[in-house]
Amino acid sequence: MTTDTITIRQPDDWHLHLRDGQLTKLVLSYSAEKFGRALIMPNLTPPVETPNQAIAYKKRILSHLPTGSRFQPLMTLFLTEKTRPEDVREGILNQAITAVKLYPSGATTNSLEGVKDCHSIDKVLEVLCEFGIPLCVHGEVSDPQVDIFDREAVFIDKVLIPIRQRFPQLKIVIEHITTQQAVEYIQSEGPCTAATITVHHLFINRNHMFKGGIRPHYYCLPVAKREEHQLSLLKAIQSLNPKFFLGTDSAPHTKETKESACGCAGMFTAPIALEAITQIFDNLQILDQLENFTSVNGSQFYGLPLNEGKVTLSKSKTPVKFLNSVVLDHLEVMIFNPEVPINWKVESIQNE
Ligand code: DOR
Ligand code: ZN
Repeated sequence: MTTDTITIRQPDDWHLHLRDGQLTKLVLSYSAEKFGRALIMPNLTPPVETPNQAIAYKKRILSHLPTGSRFQPLMTLFLTEKTRPEDVREGILNQAITAVKLYPSGATTNSLEGVKDCHSIDKVLEVLCEFGIPLCVHGEVSDPQVDIFDREAVFIDKVLIPIRQRFPQLKIVIEHITTQQAVEYIQSEGPCTAATITVHHLFINRNHMFKGGIRPHYYCLPVAKREEHQLSLLKAIQSLNPKFFLGTDSAPHTKETKESACGCAGMFTAPIALEAITQIFDNLQILDQLENFTSVNGSQFYGLPLNEGKVTLSKSKTPVKFLNSVVLDHLEVMIFNPEVPINWKVESIQNE
C-alpha cells in the first residue's frame, strides 16, 4: 500500500540562517509558512553577541513576518572569547536566547570572531549547565593543516570530547553532522548529546560538487563527504534515535556571491526542505517516523512544548516542480535543487 498523504505536527527548524535586512525580507516567508519555530544563527556581520543584540535582531526578523504569522524565531548568541558569562545568564533569564553557538574561529561564513581556545569559554559553559541551555557547535576545526574532509572528525576528538569531559552535564548539539564518526559519537554518548541533520547532506555527497564541472550551489560547510558518510546519515535517521533531528542550515547567499571565483558556503533549502525531507523518509519507508524527526525530537531535547499546528503533505504521481530561485529587487538566491524527483508537496497547514 502506498501512502499518498501524511499529516504531521508542525515542524521546527533547529538550525536556520535568516541573515538581515533585504535578504531576511526575501527568505523569511519560506521558513515561516511551514515551520512553527526556528533556531536562528547569529553569524551576522557583526555577530549577535549580546542579549540586547539578540532582542534587536529578533525584532527585525519579526518586522518582516506577514501579518498573522505565528512563526517564532528562537535566538542564539555568537560565542567569542570575550563573551561575558553574566550576559549569557541575563539572556537566559530574560528568555532572550534559546541556545549559544560555538563557531571555531574561521571555520565558516562570518566566524572569524569565534573561539580559538575552548578553555576560554568554560565560565560560559558553566552558566549553560546551570540552566540546561544547549551549546550548539559548528563541529569543525579550522586549522588549515587539517584536510577539509577530516575537520569534523578531528573536531570531535580534539575539541568536543575534552569539552564533554570537563562538562558532563552540558547539553550539546553538534550541528549539521556529515560523517560516520559524528553519527557514531552521538550514538555512543548519553542523552545530553544530540545532532542536527540537514536536508542537503542527505541528498548529496562530495561527487555532486564536481558532477560535469564545479557546482558552487552544492558547496556548503561542513562540506559534503564521501557517499559512505551520506549513507551513515541516512542510517542515523533509520535508527530512529531521538537524538537526531532536523536543522536545515538553510543558508542563503546571492547567486552572485555563490557563482564567484571564491564562492560562499551555504545552500538555500528552506523553500523545499519539508517536501524534500518527506521524500527521504518515504524513500526509506519510514514515513511514520517523519514527525519525530521534524517535529518532536528537537523540542524534546530543547525542553520546549511541541507545536500544536499540523501540516498535511500529499504525494503526486509526477515530480513536483519547485522554483529555481527567489528574487527581490537586485537580489537573487538560488534554491537547492537535489536533481532527483520530489513527489511531495505541502497541501495544507492548520495553525490556529
Ligand atoms: O554552509 C554553510 N553556510 N555552513 C555554515 O556553517 C554557515 C553557513 C552560512 O552562514 O552561510
Ligand atoms: Zn549554519
